[in-house]
This record gives sequence, structure tokens and C-alpha cells, in this order.
Amino acid sequence: MRSPFVAGNWKLNGSRSSVSSLASEIASAPASNVEVVICPVSLHLSEVAQAIAGSSVKLGAQNACAAEAGAYTGEVSSTMLAEYGCEFVIVGHSERRTLFGETDSQCAERHAAVQRAGLTSIFCIGESLQERESDQTFSVVERQLNALIDVSGDQAFENTVVAYEPVWAIGTGKTASPEQAQAVHAHIRQYIAGHNADAADAVQILYGGSVNAGNAADLFANADIDGGLIGGAALKSKDFLAICDAASRSQDS
Ligand code: PGA
Repeated sequence: MRSPFVAGNWKLNGSRSSVSSLASEIASAPASNVEVVICPVSLHLSEVAQAIAGSSVKLGAQNACAAEAGAYTGEVSSTMLAEYGCEFVIVGHSERRTLFGETDSQCAERHAAVQRAGLTSIFCIGESLQERESDQTFSVVERQLNALIDVSGDQAFENTVVAYEPVWAIGTGKTASPEQAQAVHAHIRQYIAGHNADAADAVQILYGGSVNAGNAADLFANADIDGGLIGGAALKSKDFLAICDAASRSQDS
């Protein structure tokens, strides 16, 4: 049985004091039986680590360098993130792929570095609107998953949470319907099963893209949707906690 999982991607938001308050509010009332992870910018990791100390909420980062150390100005490594209490790292987010030009193989190298450091990668995949409209959704997610298999082989899905985030649904208010999301999630799980059946059973697959307190329960009710990667709605504790609650209830039903 896969436990429900909800991660908040705070992106480039917050100040030292506002992230502390937000993290404290989330840590004071986490839903039971849900893995809850919050991912501030790296600069705020210490503040957030302090605010969630002693709670069940875990800490994640928004990216990590493929290299351990060296001449990589502006990057942070997974080993450094682990020192700050991070257990998770978002890898291959569509904003990294589109705005910063990270390729499938670069994302896969970053993913492998996260795994090597003993952290869990929240690996993001998903199609653009144009790709969906030209019926390429399945082939795009397969290509993105293949990059992981090429780099990490049998280990590709160890310490991994997959996040399916259709690019057209991120920050747009246009959520994939529960049926659309479930169809892609089922395909992802089936595709992973073709590589490693045990990994396919165990891997949590999150949906991301305009999840909010109103649509979370319908999404999480689907067999292959194990939780969510939440952007905008993760910046308000009330909304984020309501989403965590929906994930918790999805397991009971
Ligand atoms: P959103 O962002 O919930 O604001 O659509 C999701 C994400 O980018 O991970």
C-alpha cells in the first residue's frame, strides 16, 4: 500500500520571516498518514528546518546540481542539502526545463546525484499543451522516464517519487480532469512496470498543476494518483492543509 504524499513547491516566494510562519502553521497541524514535504528556496532551508523541527513535516529543495562539488557557480549539491536537513529534492520541474534549458539527460543526471546522496528525488514529467493537442502525451512522459532508465538503469526508480505535471496546468488554474490525470498516471505506472514491476507498484505518482482545496479530493480518489505536488495553493497554510487532509481521506475511502 502506497502512503499518500503531498509536497509543497514554494518556488521563488517568501521572506525569511514569512517562510518561518508558513512552515510553523503547516507543521502545527499536519494530516495523519500523509507524507508532507515542503520545498522552500535553498536560502530559506535553515529557517524552515527550525520551524518544522519535531513535527512529521519533511524538508525538500527545489533542485540540486548533478556534481558533488567544483566549478558550478550558482548551484548547490545534494550532499550540501542533506546537511541542512533536506530529505527530498524536486528534479526536472517544467520551469527548470523550459526557463533554464535543462534537458532530459541533465535532469536524469541531477536525479542520479540526489539518489547517490541518499535523498529522494521528486522527479517531474509532463507534456506541453501543444504536445497534448497533438496526442504526444504518452510519448513525452515515456521519453522523460527513459532518460532516467538510461542514466540509472535498475536503480532508476529507487528513492523516487514521480510527479506528473502537465505544463499547461501549472499555475494556470486549468487542472487536468481526474480522468485525464488518472489515464496518464496509469500509463506511467504501466511503463515503469515494463522496466521494473516491483518499482512500479511501490512508486508514488503525484499529480501537479493547479491543485487546490476544491479539486484535490476528486483527483486523489483515483487508483494511480498518490497525492500532489502543489505550487500556488502551498503558499497558504489553510489551503495546503486542506489538500493534505484530502490526501489523508483518500486513503480511508
Ligand atoms: P501550481 O504549481 O499548483 O501553482 O499549478 C504546481 C507546480 O509547479 O509544481
